[in-house]
Amino acid sequence: MKENYNEVDVLIIGSGIAGLTAAIKLAQAFPQHSVVVITKNSNESNTRYTQGGIAVVIDLLNDSLEKHIDDTLLAGGGACDKNVVEMVINEAQERLNEIIEWGAEFDRVATGELSLGLEGGHTAKRIVHVKDFTGLHLEIVLLRKAATLSNLKIASHRFALDLITAVSEEKSTGSDWRTKCLGAYVLNEESGLIETYVSKVTILATGGAGQVYRTTTNPAIATGDGVAMAHRAHARIKDMAFVQFHPTGFSSSGKGSSFLISEAVRGYGAHLVNAQVERFMFRYDVRGELAPRDIVSRAIEQEKKSNDHYIFLDCRHLDQADLKMKFPTIVEQCQINKLDPQQDLIPVEPAAHYFCGGIDVDLKGRSSIDKLYACGECACTGLHGANRLASNSLLEAMVYAHHCFIDISEKLSQLDFTEQKPQPFRVSDTDCSTTLNVKLLRAELNELMSKKAAIVRSDVGLREALVKILKLKVVVEADYRNHAISVDTCELRNLVTVAQMVVEDSMNKKVNQGTFYNVDLVGVAALPNK
Ligand code: FAD
Ligand code: SIN
Repeated sequence: MKENYNEVDVLIIGSGIAGLTAAIKLAQAFPQHSVVVITKNSNESNTRYTQGGIAVVIDLLNDSLEKHIDDTLLAGGGACDKNVVEMVINEAQERLNEIIEWGAEFDRVATGELSLGLEGGHTAKRIVHVKDFTGLHLEIVLLRKAATLSNLKIASHRFALDLITAVSEEKSTGSDWRTKCLGAYVLNEESGLIETYVSKVTILATGGAGQVYRTTTNPAIATGDGVAMAHRAHARIKDMAFVQFHPTGFSSSGKGSSFLISEAVRGYGAHLVNAQVERFMFRYDVRGELAPRDIVSRAIEQEKKSNDHYIFLDCRHLDQADLKMKFPTIVEQCQINKLDPQQDLIPVEPAAHYFCGGIDVDLKGRSSIDKLYACGECACTGLHGANRLASNSLLEAMVYAHHCFIDISEKLSQLDFTEQKPQPFRVSDTDCSTTLNVKLLRAELNELMSKKAAIVRSDVGLREALVKILKLKVVVEADYRNHAISVDTCELRNLVTVAQMVVEDSMNKKVNQGTFYNVDLVGVAALPNK
């Protein structure tokens, strides 16, 4: 495969809210420097599908920063970093104002104030939104803003393969010599060339990994590439066991794709019912349908087991015109599936939604590798602990993109390109394509993870999963080394790495917390008695 060489001042991988926010800020502040955003597809990201919105304290009569902090800590199951929680929540208003300045138009009530939604785990209305397509609106705003900056280039249909690293001369805060990041190898899907991007700093903003499970709210791009790449480069990765399942993915009877029915619909008054059309959530938690989502998802699993296989969202008692006005995308999706929310119960099931763990970063967004930053869902900042509070992740992405920007700003003009040209990327000299049935292996991995490492886990199940994942890893790595590079095999390889990290971290956890629940352990998040 031919290669091609590029030098850019700042390389950002990912064009969701985290990557684009950091890119815009850096390109604006450093007009003489080049900023390049590499993305699988500039129109695809988890950000694009966000419905509920951004959690920001606005209504100071009924809400306060302290309440938002407490809600976040409580949802996080005792595993949040309080300093991080305070920092992020204290900065929320500033970051919100910034994106409004860039052109975001959130819904407002008749008097002109921001309209505030309610979601699970929040004790006050504080979710700013654009109907139920907040993320699509934000992506449009960010891409438009990015297009106004001549030193910012978005390179779409590019697949980042691996980070380029070298031994750093500087000593880390720990006792080991550090690795430094020099950029990334990228597959240009249009030309088929492998491009070497050498950069002064690199930011990973590659989002989540919901595609490791059979049923997920995440789009196809969410294959955990950034976390897998960082892991291969020996960056510290944290808390991969904490995978959040959203309680109300639309149930497509195991067909895999699951559009989200926002928690804001429950915040608006929808009920969860079982096959006997009985509201069951209050048997599990006094907060009913608006308990944090780890509790709701586990309750649904339990209810499915003990009552029937089906759980529904009941919207029949709600004002239908208002429901349609507030949640047009969701109502439309129901109609596409031949369901009328006024008459029909909507089948729902928990779907893999958000990775609370990821690349371990400090308050400035720095990873354990020199010149490598991470922000957004691929990073583990300590904000979410063991279970993310709804609508805290767009906020986290904005705040941490800003912190990456601040830290990089302080050093960018003193940084140089590496004196040594990195080796060209070489995996195999053959142009033969894979001999694996990638689709089938991926489906098997999805099935395994959904059965053994999802909402309810067990010691035996985790052990079985690890054995199978390690066998698959041997096969996939051998194929990767001996065949031409393809996005499909690279994604499978990354998903296998993510699966391994989820299972190994789960096996190391000694207590149940938040999203992590192992029937063989006791701990704070044990299943409530029915
Ligand atoms: P993403 O937005 O996922 O962007 C990742 C980017 O990385 C993409 O551009 C992708 O193409 C690129 N990429 C990945 N791998 C590679 C690679 N190998 N090479 C090149 N590019 C790559 N959070 C909230 O706070 N509020 C909500 O209301 C909300 N609703 C949600 C609804 C849904 C359906 C989903 C799925 C998530 C929701 N979340 C919500 C979570 C939130 O969407 C994400 O946490 C957040 O958008 C992550 O932003 P990001 O920039 O980190 O990643
Ligand atoms: C939702 O709208 O229910 C999703 C919100 C989130 O994931 O934060």
